[in-house]
Amino acid sequence: MDHRSVVRKEFERAASTFGDRTQGRFGHMEVVAFSRVRSGTSVMDVGAGTGNFLALFGEQAQALIAVDLTPAMLYEGRKRLDGLWAVVADGALLPFAAASIDLVTCAQMLHHVEEPLEIIKEMKRVAALRVLIVDQVATEDEAEIDAMNELEKLRDPSHALSRPPSAFRKLLSDAGLELIDERIVSSRDTLSKWMWPGEFPVDRIEAVHDFVEHRGNETGMEFEPSGNDYDFTRRRMMLLAR
Ligand SMILES: C[S@@+](CC[C@H](N)C(=O)[O-])C[C@H]1O[C@@H](n2cnc3c(N)ncnc32)[C@H](O)[C@@H]1O
Repeated sequence: MDHRSVVRKEFERAASTFGDRTQGRFGHMEVVAFSRVRSGTSVMDVGAGTGNFLALFGEQAQALIAVDLTPAMLYEGRKRLDGLWAVVADGALLPFAAASIDLVTCAQMLHHVEEPLEIIKEMKRVAALRVLIVDQVATEDEAEIDAMNELEKLRDPSHALSRPPSAFRKLLSDAGLELIDERIVSSRDTLSKWMWPGEFPVDRIEAVHDFVEHRGNETGMEFEPSGNDYDFTRRRMMLLAR
């Protein structure tokens, strides 16, 4: 199965619970202020899923456009966000004209992508004003990057790669984009929420718990036991470019 088929299969499975499980996860990041949008802007999220990220722009934007590979995710998004335009497409081949959307974003999506440069170049082509990328980041330590990705793949077979901040800066520059601003925002999360039993199969939950117990400290994710659960640090990077 190619990686895009693995992504579609995983998100078809998770679509009905994903929106509730991840609701509010960008709430502390001040995304709208960071993106410098004015009212009346058109915003497209590539890999928009159920629209949690796009919903942040609901008060400012005159059009919210969700692009995703997985129809079931968009179907849930349409139930959650009034007036959402939903387009089933691959981020590497956006069915939009050059410079046709003011702000083109992707959030928590590039770690599902093996070759992100082609997607970032497409985002640049379609953006009239700016491109905003948000994704989880690893540390800059190679052993920690490898261990974090081993854990993430145990959790979710559609995971491709969590990258360090330096890799995102290079990707933007390779795509011909100029970085306007960047920020890394950290928050503490819990393993039980990350591996929510209502969404994940039992065998995956057990494999992830086992990894965290024995090798969690290799990942740079700062796992700490908390009763029967674990806390850990999630670092997300925001990069705004033109
Ligand atoms: C973790 S979800 C993020 C959803 C949303 N952006 C959010 O933050 O709530 C990742 C989404 O990216 C989509 N996706 C992955 N690879 C893609 C690609 N090449 N083109 C379009 N969508 C893709 C998946 O189908 C999934 O819905």
